[in-house]
Amino acid sequence: MTGRPYVVDRMISAKQIAARIEALCREIETEFAETDKLVVVGLLRGSFVFIADLVRELDLDVEVDFLEASSYGDATESSREVRILKDLRGGIEGRDVLVVEDIIDTGFTMKHVLGLLKARKPKRLRSIALLDKPSRREVAVKADWTGFEIPDEFVVGYGIDYAQRNRNLPYIGKVRFTE
Ligand code: IMP
Ligand code: MG
Repeated sequence: MTGRPYVVDRMISAKQIAARIEALCREIETEFAETDKLVVVGLLRGSFVFIADLVRELDLDVEVDFLEASSYGDATESSREVRILKDLRGGIEGRDVLVVEDIIDTGFTMKHVLGLLKARKPKRLRSIALLDKPSRREVAVKADWTGFEIPDEFVVGYGIDYAQRNRNLPYIGKVRFTE
């Protein structure tokens, strides 16, 4: 762990995440009880671990697709302008769709993605975010299901990165700068 000007303090354990996913899946199963097949849309790249655990816990027929959106330009500040870098492979018109996001922060990404997908006329569009930082919100948006509400801390792990590092941590940790 040398060469990094920060350390990662554990915030949410792998066990806590697994327990929360179990509870959320029972609610999602109830919501989509009548579905023939649910399209689970993961927002790349941060949701890849979450979506993997989520679909394995869900007792429903699912299809998995991915969308990559970027709200950051070359600067460190969010540009507030969301670009679609990779679109879905499949159509969602008339389908049951669940959007899976890692974190809702300012809200720009989720709001844009939900608007875009809604315009494609799905039968039912729902969303889930593993983490939510409500104190950071700049545009009104809320996922139908949230794993954990967290304070305004920069977090990594369980798919979530800091400059492309730490995605492989099995837990959620908060970044503490040391210099
Ligand atoms: P929003 O458009 O500001 O809501 O941005 C949400 C996106 O910003 C998330 O999908 C993450 O990719 C990124 N993000 C927000 N907070 C964090 C964090 O604490 N750690 C790592 N990425 C974050
Ligand atoms: Mg993201």
